[in-house]
Amino acid sequence: KKLEVELSQIEKGDYDHYMYKEIYEQAFTVNEVMRGRLDHAGIPGVKLGGVQNRISDIKRSNRIIMIACGTSYHSAVATRGIFEELAELPVSVELASDFMDREPPIFRNDTVIFISQSGETADSLIALAYCRKFRALCLGVTNTVGSAIARNTDCGIHLNCGPEIGVASTKAYTSQIIALILLALTLGEDSISTKNRREEIMMGLRQMSDLVKSTLALDGKIKSIAERLHKNSSLLVMGRGYQYATCLEAALKIKEICYIHCEGVMSGELKHGPLALIDDALPIVFIATRDKFFSKISDGLQQVRARKGQPIVVCTEGESDEFIPKEFIKIEVPPVVDCLQAVINIIPMQLLSYHMAVLRGCNVDKPRNLAKSVTVT
Ligand code: G6P
Repeated sequence: KKLEVELSQIEKGDYDHYMYKEIYEQAFTVNEVMRGRLDHAGIPGVKLGGVQNRISDIKRSNRIIMIACGTSYHSAVATRGIFEELAELPVSVELASDFMDREPPIFRNDTVIFISQSGETADSLIALAYCRKFRALCLGVTNTVGSAIARNTDCGIHLNCGPEIGVASTKAYTSQIIALILLALTLGEDSISTKNRREEIMMGLRQMSDLVKSTLALDGKIKSIAERLHKNSSLLVMGRGYQYATCLEAALKIKEICYIHCEGVMSGELKHGPLALIDDALPIVFIATRDKFFSKISDGLQQVRARKGQPIVVCTEGESDEFIPKEFIKIEVPPVVDCLQAVINIIPMQLLSYHMAVLRGCNVDKPRNLAKSVTVT
């Protein structure tokens, strides 16, 4: 037992918790998932060794379905749009449990992407067996070489982000987003009309590690925000477009490790219910990135403001006071191309959930009632 304690202290290094260490590791895990894939051997472009043989089959398929649970599902939500744009195929995202409750029609010319950090999640495995039965092309995105999902899929992408010990997933999430974007880039590689767009995304990928580092530098500020927020019993995180996934994932982190009720709200739905909750007391985090949805985002922000809401705003560095009133607390993050911004924006939310959990005295790495790998349905 003593040896175990000492070993875990060595592994955690200077960090009090694995989760904290894993949040910081993202400065280099974002590169590990691209190593040998982006600009391999100095040639600009993407090469995914584990799926190369099946790329033409995927391109010929009628649709793409992404299936996952928990945080891994949020990586599907984060990348759905870029798949639709670059692969020019209909894309749906599915929670494995709900997918199997419905047992929907699946065909040979479907491509199904299974995303799972552990590669062992029971619901995802059952969905995989179901899709295989109908001979769909199955692709696995996992962090665990030799895992059941890695073994039973036709092809796949490994995240290479090293073991993730904290039950709340952090570095696997950001690597999943990057792995999926690499796949979307590969599926679009022959299209001349998207060439500039793909180049813009590859430029963003090359900057990722530096941008993650400068985002991590916000830690001190976020800790002070955690001190203001940690005693609340409810919190909303709102946003839209690429950032809807950030809202869902931030809310999951806060629920999991802080035991605070938290909801990710699609800000396009504000008028259909959530606005009724807004007053000057309910804490809100608003993800207001300057992307093509920005005018709709600032509409949402105005709606919240008109009901005396006092959101903390995650926005792009240097955002003007004209859009984000001075009285709101701002968390300014470095900008990157729209589809990659989810990787940056989740970092302050991971840090916020971490600091709030520590302040609340919660067991950060092993939250009550939860398991790292859910091998039962
Ligand atoms: C559990 C973990 C989550 C994880 C989910 C899916 O709930 O606590 O962190 O996102 O399972 O796991 P997977 O290994 O399939 O990604």
